[in-house]
Amino acid sequence: MTKIAITGALGRMGTLVIQEAAKVKDMQLVAGLDAIGAGATLPGGIVVRDACELESVLKESKPDVLIDFTIAKAAVGNVCTAASLGIDLVVGTTGFSAEQHSQMKGAIEGHVAAVITPNFALGVNVFWKLVADAAAALRDYDIEIIEAHHNQKRDAPSGTALATVQAIKTALGEREVVYGREGVMPRGKEIGVHAVRGGDIVGDHTVLFAGAGERLEIKHQAHSRTAFASGAVRAADWVAGKEPGIYTMADVLKSR
Ligand SMILES: NC(=O)c1ccc[n+]([C@@H]2O[C@H](COP(=O)([O-])OP(=O)(O)OC[C@H]3O[C@@H](n4cnc5c(N)ncnc54)[C@H](O)[C@@H]3O)[C@@H](O)[C@H]2O)c1
Repeated sequence: MTKIAITGALGRMGTLVIQEAAKVKDMQLVAGLDAIGAGATLPGGIVVRDACELESVLKESKPDVLIDFTIAKAAVGNVCTAASLGIDLVVGTTGFSAEQHSQMKGAIEGHVAAVITPNFALGVNVFWKLVADAAAALRDYDIEIIEAHHNQKRDAPSGTALATVQAIKTALGEREVVYGREGVMPRGKEIGVHAVRGGDIVGDHTVLFAGAGERLEIKHQAHSRTAFASGAVRAADWVAGKEPGIYTMADVLKSR
């Protein structure tokens, strides 16, 4: 039995993760916390606790894994608290600065196991591989990444777009990255990154490779957040009790 707690329990992702976890026979929700809405009842009769009570709630409910879908600043604190109590982690929150990443790394390494990824969808993990292969094969083509998300998304570009930049750099070596263009901007060998925000778009990512007389586009579109939520639940099931360290969704998927 894997016991889970969720921070951001009343958010778009938290709500779905709870629904997906309920479908897994050997998984039990033992706590849910949110910055807003304490007192609400979650499936299974769990009462949402205020975010500021995290440490005492984790000590009382003793989850094996904390799943975090909140905001970057809050997630760093949540990760540090859980890691100090020996609780493994699944972190879906995006928008971390390099400093926040290294703070989390310091708290996790040598203490607990954590899966951290900006995108839990199975298809996106294949998308990253396809993009890296295409980049290696089309080294001289111009590369543009275009992502689109709903109008409530706080961070831009998306964590998935940034991970896509990283996948391309791993294949091609270091490259300049240009975020949007305005005015006189002759194109060099940069990777262009563009963020579109509107309506209820769940999450689209396209990588365009343009050369003389042709272009190749590799595209992933999430139709619903369920793809992310079920991946996060699977990651929680996988990470519980693993050797301390930071893992990616590729590690989870390898073990199918
Ligand atoms: N990794 C993925 O696959 C994936 C998929 C979708 C979204 N996301 C990311 O997950 C995060 C959440 O997305 P969302 O759409 O659910 O947002 P949301 O705004 O719907 O939910 C976030 C929730 O976190 C709560 N919160 C804020 N601070 C908190 C704290 N200190 N402790 C506990 N709860 C706190 C908010 O009150 C809110 O209910 C974002 O960073 C988003 O980019 C990741």
